[in-house]
Amino acid sequence: MAQLSGKTALVTGGTSGIGLATAQRLAAEGAHVFVTGRTQDRVDAAVAAIGDGATGVAGDVTQFADLDRLADAIGQRGEGLDVIFANAGGGEFATLEDETPEHLAATFDRNVGGTVFTVQKMLPLLNEGASVILAGSTSATAGIPAFGAYAASKAAIRSLGRTWAAELADRKIRVNTVVPGPVETPGLKGLAPSGQEQALLAGEAAKVPMGRIGQPSEIASAVLFLASDQSSFMTGAEMFVDGGAAQV
Ligand SMILES: NC(=O)c1ccc[n+]([C@@H]2O[C@H](COP(=O)([O-])OP(=O)(O)OC[C@H]3O[C@@H](n4cnc5c(N)ncnc54)[C@H](OP(=O)(O)O)[C@@H]3O)[C@@H](O)[C@H]2O)c1
Repeated sequence: MAQLSGKTALVTGGTSGIGLATAQRLAAEGAHVFVTGRTQDRVDAAVAAIGDGATGVAGDVTQFADLDRLADAIGQRGEGLDVIFANAGGGEFATLEDETPEHLAATFDRNVGGTVFTVQKMLPLLNEGASVILAGSTSATAGIPAFGAYAASKAAIRSLGRTWAAELADRKIRVNTVVPGPVETPGLKGLAPSGQEQALLAGEAAKVPMGRIGQPSEIASAVLFLASDQSSFMTGAEMFVDGGAAQV
């Protein structure tokens, strides 16, 4: 029996990396999955990769009008929303010395504002028993040089997850944060200067007790667990999927 049969899910940032793998996994478990990304061509490619059971809605999580269109599209399907994976996000390196107001604001707009207003706009659609999963990062607690803005934005996510778990408990909506360690995605590789992607991945793997970086499918498995009734007594939690990087 598929674990999400009859459920409707939203995966923001479902065109790449962790989001795409998770959208594929949730669809394989029977959910109808709405996926977003900023451009129509990448959203179309994701829908094709997911196959039956996916709807694409192009949009930017920092734009209210795009989030309103997304909510309208989900609402028109008429079955509400059972799962949100608020995954869209990313970052760039900047030391404290090099930080600018523009970069700091853009990072928080995307990772914090994008998450806050995605979940806010979907609130009227959420069915009783829905599961909201936020995308954290081990960087929030690790102290990685030159990753301050990104890490602070992910620290905000772990705080928001706890607040929303308390706010939404009376609607029987659970809110948890999945916390990936380094995962092999275009987003992670994009942090390296051109030609140095493999060196960056090797450097990240060396910091992980399990001696390797993670795969997007391994984060997707954790999100599926948080999305399903298998995690029915979990809310306000952070679930680390990091090969032990932030644990030992
Ligand atoms: N990979 C890791 O090691 C790692 C570790 C910890 C946490 N994370 C977190 O996991 C999440 C996914 O990361 P990833 O590594 O899979 O990154 P990725 O391969 O770069 O994918 C990022 C996704 O987010 C979308 N996106 C980015 N900005 C957006 C915006 N403003 N509006 C709408 N969509 C937007 C991208 O869509 P388009 O480009 O098509 O618009 C893409 O689908 C992020 O929140 C990231 O911070 C990743």
